Amino acid sequence: LQRGTGQPDLSGRHVVVSAGGTREPIDPVRFIGNRSSGRQGYALAQAAVTRGARVTLLSANVVLDDVAGAEIVRVGTAAELREATLKMSADADAVVAAAAVADFRPRAVSDAKIKKTAGTDDAPVIELERTDDILAELTRRRSRPEQIIVGFAAETGDAGGAVLDYGRAKLESKGCDLLVVNEVGLDRGFESDQNQAFILGRDGTSTEVPFGPKSALAHVVLDHIAARLKP
Ligand code: CTP
Ligand code: CA
Repeated sequence: LQRGTGQPDLSGRHVVVSAGGTREPIDPVRFIGNRSSGRQGYALAQAAVTRGARVTLLSANVVLDDVAGAEIVRVGTAAELREATLKMSADADAVVAAAAVADFRPRAVSDAKIKKTAGTDDAPVIELERTDDILAELTRRRSRPEQIIVGFAAETGDAGGAVLDYGRAKLESKGCDLLVVNEVGLDRGFESDQNQAFILGRDGTSTEVPFGPKSALAHVVLDHIAARLKP
């Protein structure tokens, strides 16, 4: 693990990172979105550039400053993110799916702005359909067998199970090599510059990363990736 040594341990590697949150249009002025700011994904892209990687940053509705040295591809919807991810990850050594992807989108998008009907209390019912699971598709296809694929999951613990149990199950169902799990709900995670997480490995490993800057978590995630890359 090269962190802090100044070694460009990812030089010659192509790392693809998705960041932010997708938006699914309802009509020309409205969408279904989520609270992801893109900070963790941008921190990952920045850290990978620092460590010498060629970085492609798939940015979904993020308002942060560009990451110097990374190629930025802007996307809006889950469908656009899927297309960009499959295309840009074809030759990637590692793919980090930090974006929050909509699980559902309106089945039909209205061409015109949806208006209230005067004199009534009527409200529209918007029918939703499922989006494709980009991460699951990526691991199924695995464009290169040695590619390291990393998912992110924000979970809340509840009576049905602890955060790490959900994380372990998700790692399995997604088929990724690493899953970064963080507990949300306690006013942390989204808009903050800090994060706390567990990094679960397909190999059964579990690493706790204490509450701290998203840049620090980014470097630990990259440590785990670097350790798994084939020479
Ligand atoms: N993800 C994806 N495509 C989707 C949904 C999620 O690629 N349509 C990716 C996210 O980028 C993230 C990981 O899957 O890296 C986990 O996302 P999460 O929302 O926790 O998983 P879901 O399978 O959608 O499960 P849940 O029902 O708990 O939301
Ligand atoms: Ca989801």
